[in-house]
Amino acid sequence: MKVTVIGSGYVGLVTGVCLSDIGHEVKIFDINQHKIKMLESGQVPFYEPGLEKILKRNVKKNNLFFTSQERFAFADTDIVFIAVGTPPGLDGEADLTYVFRAVQNASSYMKENSIIIVKSTVPAGTTEKLNSLCKKLVPNKNLTVASNPEFLREGSAVKDFYKPDRIVIGANNDVIHEKIKSLYALIETEYCLTTPESAEMIKYASNALLAVKISFINEVALLCEEVGADVEEVALGVGKDKRIGSSFLRAGIGYGGSCFPKDTEALIYLASQYNKEMKIVQAAKEVNDRQINWMLDHINQSATQIEHAKIAVLGLAFKPETDDIRESPALRVIDYLLQRKAEVQVFDPKAMPNTKNQYGTTLSYHETVEAAVENTDIVLVLTEWEVIIKHLPAAINSMISKPVIIDGRNCLERIKLNSDIRLVQVGKASEET
Ligand code: UGA
Repeated sequence: MKVTVIGSGYVGLVTGVCLSDIGHEVKIFDINQHKIKMLESGQVPFYEPGLEKILKRNVKKNNLFFTSQERFAFADTDIVFIAVGTPPGLDGEADLTYVFRAVQNASSYMKENSIIIVKSTVPAGTTEKLNSLCKKLVPNKNLTVASNPEFLREGSAVKDFYKPDRIVIGANNDVIHEKIKSLYALIETEYCLTTPESAEMIKYASNALLAVKISFINEVALLCEEVGADVEEVALGVGKDKRIGSSFLRAGIGYGGSCFPKDTEALIYLASQYNKEMKIVQAAKEVNDRQINWMLDHINQSATQIEHAKIAVLGLAFKPETDDIRESPALRVIDYLLQRKAEVQVFDPKAMPNTKNQYGTTLSYHETVEAAVENTDIVLVLTEWEVIIKHLPAAINSMISKPVIIDGRNCLERIKLNSDIRLVQVGKASEET
């Protein structure tokens, strides 16, 4: 099929590149010409394992194109995916300006009977509003707008594309369901064929429930510390119950990224528009906002004085295998440390360029774990990158004056550290020094 994807951001690029890889002829459209040029030369503007290789392969095969030209993008295509941003407004409401603009723009070029698929995360009811818009703008074209939310995770998006747990398609009739299903014919998975409103809700409810799971275990973790339990063992035991499942029960310094914080807010806002409250989601958000205090409290307990203390921050990305620092808990920790005039030495294998853009020379950047921890009083582990887990123990063991390690991701093993090193972890009773 001939497919056009609007938006070369995270969702659009992964979707477009992978759709070309399963045999479709794909054009990725973006108004940002600089980005289009970068992509044409085979460069992916963010770090996502495996993506660049697939992109280059399909550009070479001539079934993947990048463009800013509207006519070329939309005039001869069967399906247009909308994958533009839906950033949160001040009250949490998802801003749909880009979505509506994209549909308005594409529909004027699209041929009759083609389909627009909304991939962007949008509040329930949006797809139907877009259907009405198309009927108004191009009444004779018989365009259909459907919903097909995405569940890719940053850092494993390519893997998630090929092996999704499910594909959700929201449309008002079975012909459209089947047409969209046939796009994914090569992917073996379960399909949820439903209405646009239900598909839109599935996306928000999924992200919100995952956020609830994380905040729940984070609350349990704080209590574990008080009663002398170990949250990792508790999560293991709880997760063995198939009705609960073991994933998203890793306690830590809270969730970040461009999805959970934004989507929980948008869901709370959506409910408020119907005079409803999402009390559990609201609580998950509050617990998450508060969870960073665990780290800040431990920093205060570990330093005799924070002013001019040398503190290493290991991990800046909101999770491993990405260079994305949006809503990363690390940023809140850094802001606090800078405000308290600490000297902050940072390391992240991928996210340092993005961090430099935001913080400039207020931080000192180091290319290795060893260099970042040198001469520090406290070492904070904020993202569970493999390279940090591998190199940190030996680096600390070899230091003469040993810093305290505060592991906000519970990724270090006590056994790998010398016995005189103080290791603080989430949801574990404080250990003897
Ligand atoms: C999330 C969802 O997992 C995807 O299914 C969805 O498509 C995506 O949002 C989206 O809406 O676009 P993502 O934000 O990439 O994906 O990352 P996750 O792997 O879900 O992690 C989110 C945050 O939760 C990270 O900060 C991570 O460190 C944290 N987390 C995750 C925990 O603190 N504990 C856990 O047990 C799991």
